[in-house]
Amino acid sequence: MDVAEAVKKRYSVREYLDKPVPEEKLILILETARLAPSASNRQEWRFIVVKDKEIKNKLMQAAKGQKFVSQAPIVIACCATDTTHIMSCGQPSYVIDVTIAVDHMTLKATEEGLGTCWIGAFNEDKVKKILQVPKGVRVVELLTLGYPASEPPPRKNRKNLNEIIMYERWSS
Ligand SMILES: Cc1cc2nc3c(=O)[nH]c(=O)nc-3n(C[C@H](O)[C@H](O)[C@H](O)COP(=O)(O)O)c2cc1C
Repeated sequence: MDVAEAVKKRYSVREYLDKPVPEEKLILILETARLAPSASNRQEWRFIVVKDKEIKNKLMQAAKGQKFVSQAPIVIACCATDTTHIMSCGQPSYVIDVTIAVDHMTLKATEEGLGTCWIGAFNEDKVKKILQVPKGVRVVELLTLGYPASEPPPRKNRKNLNEIIMYERWSS
């Protein structure tokens, strides 16, 4: 599967089969996070792979009760260790760096026949407590991972290119 196809095929999977993710597939997916670019090659990302049912249940509660968080065979808590670095453009690098790594994982998972869903709706303090994440480390995203239990829904609407692209200068 090429990258464009993975981009097209990826969708948010909110229903998972009760079927474990083979370890070799998990490693291939994590490897794409490892190889992601990061500002000044900081690699401040850290990933906690959660398979334990009890811990996933707690994460589900911390994620506004989104049921599929506990149903997914794996939840990956995507963290950043150094959150202080601000790039000259004014943006903190850690959110961007972690996010790129997560996106790599979603695409590789798609290639491997697996599904993912980004989870941004969670209480960070609760998640940190559950996973014993040290002070100063931020949990940027949770990512569910597993075999999809249902067929992909019709593609969700995206804006047209002409609504989001401008050439040479900002134009309305
Ligand atoms: C940063 C981020 C946070 C998200 N948080 C959640 C979430 O908490 N729960 C959820 O069900 N979907 C979540 N999503 C999934 C989006 O709703 C989804 O990507 C969007 O509706 C487009 O649908 P698609 O992923 O199927 O193409 C999140 C997506 C992103 C990128």
